[in-house]
Amino acid sequence: MTTSNPDIPFIRQHIDGWCESEGETVLLRDPADARQVRASVSSGSPVDAKRSVAVARRGAVEWGQRPAFERGDVLRRAADLMESRQDSLVLGIVHEMGKPLGEATAEVRRTVDMTRHFAGAVKHAEGASHRLGSDKEQAWTIRVPLGVVVAITPWNFPLMIPNWKIASALVHGNAVIFKPAESAPLSAAALTQCYLDVGVPAAALSLLLGRGPVVGPTLVESTDVDAVTFTGSTQVGRMIVAESARTGKKVQAEMGGKNAVVVMPDAHLDDAVASVVLAGFGTSGQRCTSSSRVLVHEEVREEFTDRLVHATKALVTGPGLRPGVTVGPLASQQAMEGALRLLEKAISEGAEVVVGGGRLTSGELGHGYFIEPTILNADSTGTAFCEELFGPVVSVHQFTDLDQAIEMNNAVRYGLSAAIYTNNLTSAHRFIREVDTGMVHVNRPTVGAEAHLPFGGAKESAYGIAELGASADFFTRTRSAHVRW
Ligand code: UN1
Repeated sequence: MTTSNPDIPFIRQHIDGWCESEGETVLLRDPADARQVRASVSSGSPVDAKRSVAVARRGAVEWGQRPAFERGDVLRRAADLMESRQDSLVLGIVHEMGKPLGEATAEVRRTVDMTRHFAGAVKHAEGASHRLGSDKEQAWTIRVPLGVVVAITPWNFPLMIPNWKIASALVHGNAVIFKPAESAPLSAAALTQCYLDVGVPAAALSLLLGRGPVVGPTLVESTDVDAVTFTGSTQVGRMIVAESARTGKKVQAEMGGKNAVVVMPDAHLDDAVASVVLAGFGTSGQRCTSSSRVLVHEEVREEFTDRLVHATKALVTGPGLRPGVTVGPLASQQAMEGALRLLEKAISEGAEVVVGGGRLTSGELGHGYFIEPTILNADSTGTAFCEELFGPVVSVHQFTDLDQAIEMNNAVRYGLSAAIYTNNLTSAHRFIREVDTGMVHVNRPTVGAEAHLPFGGAKESAYGIAELGASADFFTRTRSAHVRW
């Protein structure tokens, strides 16, 4: 089923060529105005999933035999192509997940940069050499591809996160089965097309559309899949980790976060406020690295909160393409309902609403999935403090000294990112040492990901080898060669 409107693209899968699935066709609605249909999507079935594995096994042989430098060149050309297609990639991101234009543009730029990084980094990804028992013996390690990698990706960075997994997997010689979030088919299809257009063999990159519970189990249970790289919720991630272990796959999972920004009395308050606004309300709070808790020293709590309220009121919520808009909608009805449910729970537990507090229902915005940028005042227990809302909601909590701030930072089940605002080096160093997160920032927001640095977390935020800077370690196996002559 396609729609009768020729302006609405019909998105198909790519399994050894673009093809329609026997599964259902679903309509993708614009999160800023659900009356608008942005695509109809041929959703995959377990039969498609099975076929994608068989195809990828072939692709892994063909692609894995290409020299590493040649694979790097292919990535470099893919980056150029993405750059030349920037406008349509940006539009796809805005249409499918609602990001404001500036954020969507930044996502495309970061995607291009990261692809260039991986294209070059493959040259450095090799092993070490070691002595053996005599001078006529030597051992060294080489890196070999894993084979077939499944990439299961989220909708909050519909281009950048899939690409950082796909680019890393491909450049190290693996075939990829790309299973994007159901609500992000536009970026997924456009990204796949870029790689195919620059010469990645059809069998080395499959795009499998469809709902996780429908196509996921076939992929994760298959003994013909060598590795799974996942970004998404802790609940789904843990299931994937368990099943991957059972079937002997390498697995990495990037999952939830409940990231805190600590504001010390000596902090530059305006910097701290700007950081919380950017990382708390940017992407409508839908990043695993979002700042959802602010821990403020009692001495500056009132002043900081006043300035934060002032800056929050200056945000402009609306459709991503409208000039001046700084906060877009939530990405889907499901995303909005999930965030509202937790927000209401937090309020019912006693969190006080300082600004915002609910869905925007009046006028045009009532047709979209908009939640007001919200600030809560809350104590250090309950939903506001502990649960990942994944929406534009920031809660403020008070502390009396750095010991207590660190204890509060570490008191949640997640451990992805944390930030401290201070001009005191001792406080900064203690914080770096004593927080239990995978990433820590001093006088910088909790968000961000650098291609050359490991991106990963602790506790329920992550499992397995980190991403990005550590990607050669995940996407290759080492082989030790022992040689006598
Ligand atoms: C960023 O903060 O710029 O899902 C990247 C996420 C993270 C990526 C964040 N894996 O939000």
